[in-house]
Amino acid sequence: MTKVITYGTFDLFHEGHYRLLQRAKQLGDYLIVGVTTEEYDQTRGKLNVIDSLMTRIENVRKSGFADEIIIEESQGQKFRDIKKYQVDIFTVGSDWVGQFDYLKDYCKVVYLERTKNISSTMLRIQNKRIQRIGIIGTGRIAERFIPEAKLVSGVSVEAVYNPHTESALRYAGRWGIDSYKNLEEFYQAVDSVYIASPHETHYQYIKKALEHGKHVLCEKPMVLKGQQAKELFALAKENRLVLFEGIKTAYCPGFGKMMGMACSGLIGTVRNVEACFTKLENPKNRELTDLQYGGSFIELGSYVMLPIIKMFGHEPEQVRFDRINGENGLDLFTKAYFKYPNGLGTATCGLGVKSEGQLIISGTKGYILAEAPWWKTAYFEIHHENPSDVEKFSERFLEDGLRYEISDFLSLINGNKKNGFKLTPEDSVVMAEVMEEFLREKNHENMGT
Ligand code: CTP
Repeated sequence: MTKVITYGTFDLFHEGHYRLLQRAKQLGDYLIVGVTTEEYDQTRGKLNVIDSLMTRIENVRKSGFADEIIIEESQGQKFRDIKKYQVDIFTVGSDWVGQFDYLKDYCKVVYLERTKNISSTMLRIQNKRIQRIGIIGTGRIAERFIPEAKLVSGVSVEAVYNPHTESALRYAGRWGIDSYKNLEEFYQAVDSVYIASPHETHYQYIKKALEHGKHVLCEKPMVLKGQQAKELFALAKENRLVLFEGIKTAYCPGFGKMMGMACSGLIGTVRNVEACFTKLENPKNRELTDLQYGGSFIELGSYVMLPIIKMFGHEPEQVRFDRINGENGLDLFTKAYFKYPNGLGTATCGLGVKSEGQLIISGTKGYILAEAPWWKTAYFEIHHENPSDVEKFSERFLEDGLRYEISDFLSLINGNKKNGFKLTPEDSVVMAEVMEEFLREKNHENMGT
């Protein structure tokens, strides 16, 4: 009996997939089809798979060619499967020519001619109109946005707006997009906006964008007042628009996995979260000179509050702050303490004090440890009472990682709510409330001194 194996995502099952499976089956007597998991696809840069794993498996099954369907979860699995199932022929479409020649030592490798003019990518684009994104603000983070957006199929960055026309023109020139002086014209040219302007301008820009019927992805901290956050989310809901706070950690695959593990009972009931993020900043930069909206907590607080809020929710009994201020009154180092009925959290951040940046999630049976840069989670460990009992987990975090949030933003716009839980409006509202309280205390104290 000749055993054949092939692999694929098989998203939006199409004629190309059908013909590939048909010919794969004809190569032998028994066909094994490996269907990729969403997590594996993400690590390969396929970020917009629409059909669930169940649907994709069902569609392969319905084609009638597969004798056995398996799940492909990781790199290196193909080699193991070939050994395990005693495969004679490995086959894939001709878009992969040469890429699997390394398997030739173990079985025959056949590249089948790819069916022309059809692909899942094409169907995804046809199904959903391309989202034209416009950028407001042209600072450092905006520079990272375009290269990452290019990796997400279904979005296209088309326009930029900045009241400082010079900066807008320079940015537009660098990235080959249009620059607008007039906000009304800018809104006409796009379907959604990415806001990366100074914090204090977010509220007005978000409101305007929503009023113009545009979806919004706004950099963190989205707003610095709880009431404003509530008002904006209500406005978005009323207009059936997506409003999304860009805290990249929330959308990165490793962080999601870690949160899932923490809630799974593996470390028992979670009782304490300690998150620390420090980054020595140039004292001349905006972060340490903007007397009203600079400082460590406003800059980094979103990251360190995130795991605490994800673990314990939206109703802390008490939040209080300790901070070390620089001469200009801005906090160089801050600790925010959260007290919940069943747990405690400490969010520590600093722009002028360096520390080991760790995330520790402690439970009644063990703890999770993620070293810096845990905010781009690529690796974490689960520890138990026995010090040698350590489980290790890794996930890929590619380059700047904004691709994950852009991809989730697009999924939500396209009506796919499966990733909405990663950062909910309620999460963003609590963060805004805590930031508001922090600023109130800071201003009060600074006025007194
Ligand atoms: N395939 C094919 N002809 C097509 C499309 C895909 O023969 N027109 C083959 C691929 O070469 C692969 C298998 O079908 O062997 C599964 O491909 P998959 O990557 O799931 O489909 P694509 O349409 O190529 O997906 P995408 O656009 O997301 O890359």
